[in-house]
Amino acid sequence: MSTIRLGDEAPNFTAITTEGNINFHEWLGNDWGILFSHPADYTPVCTTELGTVAKYKSEFDKRNVKVAALSVDGLESHNGWIKDINQTQNTEVNFPIIADEDKKVAMLYDMIHPNADNKLTVRSVFIIDPNKKIKLIIVYPASTGRNFDELLRVIDSLQLTAYHKVATPSNWNNGDDCVIVPSVSNEEIPSLFPKGHTEVKPYLRVTPQPNIN
Ligand code: BEZ
Repeated sequence: MSTIRLGDEAPNFTAITTEGNINFHEWLGNDWGILFSHPADYTPVCTTELGTVAKYKSEFDKRNVKVAALSVDGLESHNGWIKDINQTQNTEVNFPIIADEDKKVAMLYDMIHPNADNKLTVRSVFIIDPNKKIKLIIVYPASTGRNFDELLRVIDSLQLTAYHKVATPSNWNNGDDCVIVPSVSNEEIPSLFPKGHTEVKPYLRVTPQPNIN
């Protein structure tokens, strides 16, 4: 088991997946990544989650995000279950599912929480940036399906910070005003934020979202 924290390098691994064997870092390339675990194949909540992820492919593509799922089931199980996901969720699974039968990746990413379940992975999510740094970690219990709109919202926020030097306030949604990060000086603001800004307090400077018209 290892402890992974925000800002750490995402541990690399090789794995068997439904789309062939991968070296995780090579597979990510220069893209952003989401690595998420689910407890088990042929379970109801997981079936809906993986169907949702398949349907969101164009949203992930738009943001240069590659997505990989993981459970400790084997490849044959994954491939059989994919047929059920496609049928019941009206989609085609279009991302790799890691077959982590030996729990190598699960242990590396601390996805098994023994006091919840000592054999199965919980619903962990890791968002990884193009420098392979961990940018977000969330963990949900087996009984709660994740909100993938929230993951898109976080990706949008992370990319605004990475590319436009803004952070996003409480309950922010795409299109809402952003806050200028503290490392930007007042002198830099006119060139970086030509749409203007409002100084609510010296430490709270608000600007329209920079990457939309
Ligand atoms: C599910 O995916 O439905 C599930 C898996 C493990 C425990 C509870 C629910």
